[in-house]
Amino acid sequence: MMTGIKTEFTQMMGVDYPIIGAPMFLISYEELVTAVATAGGLGALPLPNFRTAEDLKKTLQNIRMKTDKPIGVNIHVSGKFQWKEQLALCLDFGVKFFITSLGDPRLILNDVHANGGKVFADVVSLEQGLKARERGVDGLIAVAAGAGGHAGRSSTMVLVPYLKSKVGLPVIAAGGISTGAQMAAAMALGACAVVVGTRLVATDESRAIPPYKKAIVAAGPDDIVCTDRITGNPANWLSKSIKDFKKMPELGSKKWKELWSAGQSVAQAEDIRPAGQVIAEMVEEYLNTCRKLGQSVTGL
Ligand SMILES: Cc1cc2nc3c(=O)[nH]c(=O)nc-3n(C[C@H](O)[C@H](O)[C@H](O)COP(=O)(O)O)c2cc1C
Repeated sequence: MMTGIKTEFTQMMGVDYPIIGAPMFLISYEELVTAVATAGGLGALPLPNFRTAEDLKKTLQNIRMKTDKPIGVNIHVSGKFQWKEQLALCLDFGVKFFITSLGDPRLILNDVHANGGKVFADVVSLEQGLKARERGVDGLIAVAAGAGGHAGRSSTMVLVPYLKSKVGLPVIAAGGISTGAQMAAAMALGACAVVVGTRLVATDESRAIPPYKKAIVAAGPDDIVCTDRITGNPANWLSKSIKDFKKMPELGSKKWKELWSAGQSVAQAEDIRPAGQVIAEMVEEYLNTCRKLGQSVTGL
C-alpha cells in the first residue's frame, strides 16, 4: 500500500504528502510543477512568470495533459498584473490552491471559494497573520528567516508555533525546510504542510540556468545574505551573485537572471537531481524520523 501522510492540508487539498513545491519566479514552470505533483506533493506556479494570459493558458494546458493532480499558484493581486484574467484561467483549469503575497486577498476570496479552492497568505509576522485572518483567508504560510525569496526575521522554530497559537488558522511552514527531518520538526511545531523552495532550484526540472543550480549545491548557509536593496523587501540571495549590485543597481532590471535568490537550506542541497527524488526522500526520511522519535520514548 502506498504511504500517505494525513494532515489538515493533505485532506483539504487531496494530495498524498504535505509538501508544496514553492512557486519561484523564473524557476517554477510546468516541468517542476508536474514533477512535484506526480510525486504526491503540490506543485505551484508564480503567475508573474507569465507575461500574457496566452502563455499561462499554454502552461496550464501542458500541465493538465500530464497530470490531473491538484496544483497551486502564487497570484499577485496588484495593479501590475492582469490578475483577473489569470484568476479566471486558473479556476477554469481547476487550480484549487492560491497563495497571495502582495495585495488584498479579499479580491479573490469569493471566486476561489465558489470554485472549491483555498487561499493562503504569505506572512512574516503576527501583525500580518492577524490582518490576513481578518480578511478571511483560509490559512497562513509562515515565511521565516532564512527562506529563499522574500523572508521574515523570525526563525521557523519560533514563527510557526507563534502564528499557530495566536492566529488559530492552519499554518504552513516555509524557510529552511528540504529534508524529512526538517519537515518532521515543522509538523511537530504545528504546521500542516511545508514549502520547499531553495532545494528545488537545484533539480533537473527547475528552469534555473546550470551555474545557478551548481552555485546552490556549492554554497553553505554563510554564503546567503539578506538584503532589501534589490526588491525593496528583505530577501535572501547567494552573496556572490549580488556582490556588484550595490555599485550597479541597474543590474536589477537588466540582468534579473543573474541575481540568484536562495535560502539557508543550500546547506542540505548536495546535488542536482530530479525533483520527484527530493520529494520521495523527504517522505521516507520523515517517516523514519517519526518512527525513531517514537522509539526513543521510554517508560510509557
Ligand atoms: C529563486 C526563488 C524565487 C522565489 N520566487 C517566489 C515567487 O515568485 N512567489 C512567491 O510567492 N514566493 C517565491 N519564493 C519563495 C518561496 O515561495 C518559498 O517561500 C521559499 O523558497 C521557502 O523557503 P526555502 O527557500 O528555504 O525552501 C521564491 C524563492 C526562491 C528561492
